[in-house]
Amino acid sequence: MRWYLDMDPGIDDAVALAVALTRGPVAGLTTVAGNVRGSQTFRNARRLLRAFGRSDLPVVAGAEKPLFHPLVTAPHIHGQSGLEGYALADDTDAANGNQGAPVSAWAWMADQLRQESAKEGSGKESIWVATGPLTNVARFLAGCADGDLDRRMAAITVMGGSLVGGNVTSAAEFNFYCDPDAADFVLASGWPVRVVGLDVTTRRGIAVADLPRLRGYGRVGEMLQGWLAFYAEAIARYDQTEDQVHLHDVLAVAAAAHPERFEWQSLPLAVVRDGERRGAVVRLSPTAARAPVDYAVGFDQEWFLEWFWQSLEGYQGTG
Ligand code: BDR
Ligand code: CA
Repeated sequence: MRWYLDMDPGIDDAVALAVALTRGPVAGLTTVAGNVRGSQTFRNARRLLRAFGRSDLPVVAGAEKPLFHPLVTAPHIHGQSGLEGYALADDTDAANGNQGAPVSAWAWMADQLRQESAKEGSGKESIWVATGPLTNVARFLAGCADGDLDRRMAAITVMGGSLVGGNVTSAAEFNFYCDPDAADFVLASGWPVRVVGLDVTTRRGIAVADLPRLRGYGRVGEMLQGWLAFYAEAIARYDQTEDQVHLHDVLAVAAAAHPERFEWQSLPLAVVRDGERRGAVVRLSPTAARAPVDYAVGFDQEWFLEWFWQSLEGYQGTG
């Protein structure tokens, strides 16, 4: 099994990456514009890999903007750089593969799967976890319309959407709001898609009071503590009653790694592409001409927190 991560780092993306690197055989990253502009998410991804000791992994830049809408970013939550709260070293000499390569994330992803297809005896060995707007994933799926690659991808797990109210508008979650056309396209694609939305990610995160504990996990733990403290303060400006830090993107990694710890409903869903309810998820009739996706409606919360802290143990010695 190989993991590919499509991200817009982004503070919770950074935490998700730290966790994924200790849990799965991560084969590469693709980046997308979202929390900050595309050139910055690419830069952040490379800097993060270096900070986490994995400069060997390829990072491939993807979409610079959503399919049809202008880009909306979230500096008020993640800071101007996307990673406020702990300053990372400059990355001008970072050696990750594919920097500046004239290939887009979606074409690179298709290539990866084709190479895997060429290997004998391998089954569905790739999972893709997307924790930003779904622009790259939609472009990838659009390019796979001939069905030549679908046998290789076990599942695409996405963080996005909400059936319980939004965090950008009262109806919409950020990733789906940012590129609603891509989100709708992915939900309509018929691929095996798992959706981890605010319905579950806002249910349980780490307590703000537990953030200092992160410092016990080496230099990487210090980084996570710095970013999440900034993030918690930013969220508190909007909701002073919140005493948890929601680890949206980390929960998507957990769901990809352990879908059996989640409760899923199989639902045909659409995403509102424009207007006041842009980005909102809409439940379609069970008889709708749209394949259902797996939508997370619950998870084992105690297990998740234990799994999260255990994931960080590998960083204890990092200096
Ligand atoms: C999602 O929006 C982004 O700001 C976070 O990184 C996460 O992917 C939560 O709505
Ligand atoms: Ca994200």
